[in-house]
Amino acid sequence: MIVLTLTENSIKKNLKVIEKNISYIDLLELRVDLLKKSEIKKLDSFPKLVDLPVILTYRKVEDGGEFSGSDISRAKLFEELQYSGYKYFDLEAGFYPRIKNSDLTIIRSTHNFLQKPDNLEDIIIKANSCGEIPKVAYSVNSFGELLDFYSTMKRLSDYKKIVLAMGEFGLSTRILSKKIGSEFTYSSCNSKLKSLGHIEPNILCDVYNYKNISKRTSIYGIIGNPIYHSKSPELHNSFIKSKNRDAVYVPFLVDDLQSFIKLVEFLDIKGFSVTVPFKKDVVSYLDWKSEGVEHIGACNTVKVHNKKLFGYNTDAFGFINQLNEVVNLKDKKVAVIGAGGAANSIVFALKREGAIVTIFNRTLENAKVLANRNGCKFESLSNIRNFNNFDIVVQTTVAGMGRLKKINPVKDYKFSGKEICYDIVYSPLKTKFLKKAVRSGAKVLYGDRMLKEQALEQFKIFEY
Ligand code: ATR
Repeated sequence: MIVLTLTENSIKKNLKVIEKNISYIDLLELRVDLLKKSEIKKLDSFPKLVDLPVILTYRKVEDGGEFSGSDISRAKLFEELQYSGYKYFDLEAGFYPRIKNSDLTIIRSTHNFLQKPDNLEDIIIKANSCGEIPKVAYSVNSFGELLDFYSTMKRLSDYKKIVLAMGEFGLSTRILSKKIGSEFTYSSCNSKLKSLGHIEPNILCDVYNYKNISKRTSIYGIIGNPIYHSKSPELHNSFIKSKNRDAVYVPFLVDDLQSFIKLVEFLDIKGFSVTVPFKKDVVSYLDWKSEGVEHIGACNTVKVHNKKLFGYNTDAFGFINQLNEVVNLKDKKVAVIGAGGAANSIVFALKREGAIVTIFNRTLENAKVLANRNGCKFESLSNIRNFNNFDIVVQTTVAGMGRLKKINPVKDYKFSGKEICYDIVYSPLKTKFLKKAVRSGAKVLYGDRMLKEQALEQFKIFEY
């Protein structure tokens, strides 16, 4: 069930947020500590204004809230509101207002912003024995700690509980709450709680298809660092939805590949995409490698079958499809700009199609290594001014993208106007390089399809 934590400072503003999100959420959490003082008198009537069950929470500063007064006044507020229609009271460990209303359920909460609480299992077992629901939220500071979180929760699978791992490594626990037996997942629409890892309810539902996730749902994902900017979860989950598959595709921020590989077995992850900086390192964990992975030494797709890891590389798939639609690559003279990970896949794919490739790179040594491995020529990027006879020019570097968008790494090339020019950068779509190519009369192809088609190829491998 999705809880929407209300973080506005007035009931009126919170009601607007509820209205906007009503189709996504199952419960509300009203945070008294975030409300203006003048709103407190309205708390008695709040549950009657909304159609959903409400959790009343009055969080102290040391537990991550904004209330800094005494426990006596806090207890008084809960005692006064116990017959006002709230379904749950969230009370921290050691806080015991006199609650007599047996229709109220107590959520006994523990927050630790540094680490896992020492007595976590005791907390969960004790609350269960008192008929309360334990809520334990703690920060995980590495992927290893996240792995420990998942294994602890598996041990506690028979107990009723609300659990979540806070912080950037813990995001998957918000999406997979039902898989780990957590009664609720908390969401909000305010950046105030984003640092804790809150996901907005519409993202949980529209992107991750949260309502359809159950204990049986197959888990897929993507690993990288950074990872949360990736468009892959949107692409994969919308495909899963369109095919009506019982699966979810989750982003995992990883700082330790070995811990992730353990999680694959532990959560029975069926397949995962791999992005920077793990494409090379993941190869040593594979039980089987495609011809491309074998040659390139980098893998962006892993399928798991019978506990074995099968590695593929779909990076250059869209690129080659797009070019093949407009030109037969056999014996075409192709200039590849760059000699990094992307160039690695692209040069391999071009050679397989029979193209004659010359690699141009800022650092000559890197161009030499890639050229020797693929049997092609190489040149320093600064020498490109001496060439004008390529059929195809492919830009594979990060220059031209994001904060480097003002850079054109091919600025000295003298276009004949007959070239086909391709830039793998898709943000912005019209890079400085491609704009110049258009002005010269060359044909241009944009990089956005490459992302989509490499994902389409991954769908096939994952057999969604
Ligand atoms: P990716 O995996 O995205 O290809 P990478 O492996 O880090 O990333 O490779 C980046 C490529 O972009 C390299 O070819 C790099 O050139 P060097 O080998 O000289 O480092 C190239 N590159 C990065 N910034 C560049 C710039 N400002 N001008 C030209 N080339 C650049």
